[in-house]
Amino acid sequence: MELYVAGQLPEALLVGVPDIDQQHEEIFSRISLLKAQCLESGSAAVEGFADLLELFAQHFANEQMLAEEAEIDFSEHAGVHHDTLRILYKALNDAFAGSQDVYSLLRYAEYWFERHIGEDDRLFADELSAANGQRTSQPRWPLNASFSAHA
Ligand SMILES: [Fe+2]
Repeated sequence: MELYVAGQLPEALLVGVPDIDQQHEEIFSRISLLKAQCLESGSAAVEGFADLLELFAQHFANEQMLAEEAEIDFSEHAGVHHDTLRILYKALNDAFAGSQDVYSLLRYAEYWFERHIGEDDRLFADELSAANGQRTSQPRWPLNASFSAHA
């Protein structure tokens, strides 16, 4: 069952970095599908929730790689990712043990992710854009100076 329409993230959830926005969209899409599966048959979604956490981990690693490439201090943001994954993996274990409702976990993950994008990822995207903008403008300056010296 497809409940999520690709390319339809609301403006408030876009950060302006295409790779990150695409990954966010993929995660929201996965959460929507898992919620639908939960409503159809609750037990099938536990394995799906484990896959979702793997998707989160890959996305967080990608953000960390982008930060390192742009030489941005990512330690606080990485700490948020680490703490969240720790909580979600503990909840996953509880879900496998049957003491945690997967639908509630999906709602929690979705809410957390929306808040994280607004509070943390948007700031990170601004830093990333600024850092990458500086990097692309640097090689042009000596070139322009060289032209003016010959004028
Ligand atoms: Fe993040």
